[in-house]
Amino acid sequence: MADAKSPPLLSVQELHAHYGRSHILHGVSFHVSSNEVISLLGRNGSGRSTTLKAIMGLVPPTDGSIRLRQHELAGLRPYSICRHGIGYVPEEREIFANLTVEENLRMGMQPAVNGASVWTIEQMFDYFPRLKERRNTKGASLSGGEQQMLTICRALLGNPLLMLIDEPTEGLAPKIVAAVGEAIADIHRQGVAVILVEQKLAIALKVSSRVCVMGHGRIVFEGSPEALGASPQVLAEWLAV
Ligand SMILES: Nc1ncnc2c1ncn2[C@@H]1O[C@H](COP(=O)(O)OP(=O)(O)OP(=O)(O)O)[C@@H](O)[C@H]1O
Ligand SMILES: [Mg+2]
Repeated sequence: MADAKSPPLLSVQELHAHYGRSHILHGVSFHVSSNEVISLLGRNGSGRSTTLKAIMGLVPPTDGSIRLRQHELAGLRPYSICRHGIGYVPEEREIFANLTVEENLRMGMQPAVNGASVWTIEQMFDYFPRLKERRNTKGASLSGGEQQMLTICRALLGNPLLMLIDEPTEGLAPKIVAAVGEAIADIHRQGVAVILVEQKLAIALKVSSRVCVMGHGRIVFEGSPEALGASPQVLAEWLAV
């Protein structure tokens, strides 16, 4: 569990982002402590994926600050942000179709930054035995669930301090959803912080220590999963549940 007194691992302050002339993020502020899982919740189009992309430098922030430990990330290129210790699992599963499962995993391997857990391919196969069975299969032949497992494992092999995971369970069979939820819980237990964007509220509430609800490109609620559960107005207005 995160120590409330420890300085945050990631601190996002007054973050703004645009797509062309569309102003999408309107001053997003939140923090993540090391060894904390937070969920970004919200309706479709509320700005959750854009927040992750802005942290990753894939959408350049137009204002505000993104600090990882003592480093300012706003304005850096994605590969540089990755090397500071952030792993990213995009909504679209981006695997190499012509490489095997094992080759895809090797592509993700990076030296660990100071203080990060070090992961092995064997550990990935322990989480998802299906990937071990498919280790010599080309990416193009994998099912959606297998591709999702592979994307998560490849990001983890970069030995990040913080993982950004965008809708990992979308379109997956219930059994795979449970395995992905378990893997995220274990990644957390091993000391990696996680920002999770998840449509399935039950999973988000189960694995998160804190939740932030987004609406119209802002954070409209922040609190514990229990506090969210006890806020019918937030659930109704911003999550439509
Ligand atoms: N590449 C893009 N170009 C222009 N507008 C975009 C682009 N990507 C997203 N948007 C717009 O930005 C807003 C926020 O989108 P974002 O992808 O962050 O939403 P989200 O909360 O992840 O929801 P979902 O994944 O369900 O669509 C939406 O209005 C969306 O239409
Ligand atoms: Mg999204």
